[in-house]
Amino acid sequence: MSHTVDEIVFPSHFAWGASTAAYQIEGAWNADGKGSSIWDTFCHAKGKIFEDQNGDVACDSYHLWEEDLKCIQQLGLSHYRLSFSWSRLLPDGTTQHVNPKGVAYYNKVIDSLLANNITPMVTLYHNDLPQALQDIGGWKSLEIADVFDSYAKFCFETFGDRVKLWLTLNEPYVCAKLGHEDGIFAPGLKEPGVSVYLTGHNMLRAHAKAWHSYHTHFRQAQKGLVSLTLNSDWAEPLDPNSPEDVAATERYMAFILGWFANPIFLTGDYPEIMRSRIDAFSKETGYSEGPRLPKFSPDDPAVLGTADFFALNYFTSRKVKAPASSPRKLSFKNDQGAEEVLDPSWPICGVSWLAVVPDGLRKLLKYIKDTYKSPTVYITENGFSQMGPVEMEDMKRCVYYRDTLHEISKAMREDGVDVRGYFVWSLMDNFEWVDGFGVRFGLFHVDFSRPELTRTMYRSGREYAAIISNHRSRHKPTQTGR
Ligand code: NOJ
Repeated sequence: MSHTVDEIVFPSHFAWGASTAAYQIEGAWNADGKGSSIWDTFCHAKGKIFEDQNGDVACDSYHLWEEDLKCIQQLGLSHYRLSFSWSRLLPDGTTQHVNPKGVAYYNKVIDSLLANNITPMVTLYHNDLPQALQDIGGWKSLEIADVFDSYAKFCFETFGDRVKLWLTLNEPYVCAKLGHEDGIFAPGLKEPGVSVYLTGHNMLRAHAKAWHSYHTHFRQAQKGLVSLTLNSDWAEPLDPNSPEDVAATERYMAFILGWFANPIFLTGDYPEIMRSRIDAFSKETGYSEGPRLPKFSPDDPAVLGTADFFALNYFTSRKVKAPASSPRKLSFKNDQGAEEVLDPSWPICGVSWLAVVPDGLRKLLKYIKDTYKSPTVYITENGFSQMGPVEMEDMKRCVYYRDTLHEISKAMREDGVDVRGYFVWSLMDNFEWVDGFGVRFGLFHVDFSRPELTRTMYRSGREYAAIISNHRSRHKPTQTGR
């Protein structure tokens, strides 16, 4: 049974947002002094992306920001999450060369959001490493953590008087796994079982350095919060009575969420199950070039405690079973030792990986509360895609948002999870990485066949706007007592 808009009740301070990311919307890939990023390079090589599409123009938000702002206003959002393109600000990735036009662009965006009473949440890194840094080793190089830290400090210095909600990295799991193990995301490396952990490690080090820089040099004056966005599915054992499936499910969660959340929120180190599985498998396969899962060094600032809130991207759930056998080949999958199964009762929306499971989010929120010491949580992405002929009256998505928000409110009221805000992925249709423009997540339709790239609200946009407006009228201050 689906829920009505009226049933969705949240506390007055709740943040209502939508999210985007620079490469997916900005276009202007080489305009006004911007340097190339690994996604420019990756898409320009043939055969990587659906129909060889790329983000050269995308929604052209670099030139059409005012159109985006109108969309944000039409929805009545209180918050907007965007990402900075690192190579638009610093074309070669270092603070030796600043691109003033890049700075001017983000100043314009931030100032106009604030002038309209909309709070910006800024991600510093959403997949698009400057190509110049990739050329010297990218996320696999130890030095990247210091280079990222300098970039972060530059951003805090330049924009931190106005931006109070920062995310250092978006989905390090995805960058590490899809970009360095599977090779289907930039930089397209297929180095199974090794680079994935090194990349993840350097991302954690980079994040921790940036958080400490903010804490030490900026927090007192700027009074903002810094975290990073972690993605996770919710996973349940295929057969809850099978100890093997239960153990495989624990490994599944440890290798997705625990990989980054344990060091930051719990112990300062990776989940024990990761270390023991990876080390044991190295031994079995005769891998002898040191630990594949790196150790945290006492020379680096501590990673424990480096998040001021928990930022979660949730899209889907999985059933998990223990694999029948484990091939003697190094890979993340073999280390993880968990086979994913889609429950046939879950509808699929658009892309094949996106099973619709709103109550998985409630369960995941409860898991985060219980496992990571009741952090405050922002849901920084959640969405529903369409593929194929566009449905402007996207009723299934409307139901999805209502049901999902209902699950979040239950997590808050019945399970005591401290959720502070919800951000839809995405404000508008955009470049969906390997799936190009074929998969649409927007609250606004974008007509990519026309040079104007016209934005038109979907029915689901109207639905979300109604939910937000209902919330506002419910919490309107009364005149009594004045
Ligand atoms: C999460 C990513 O952060 C975003 O870039 C992507 O478009 C959505 N997932 C949907 O796949």
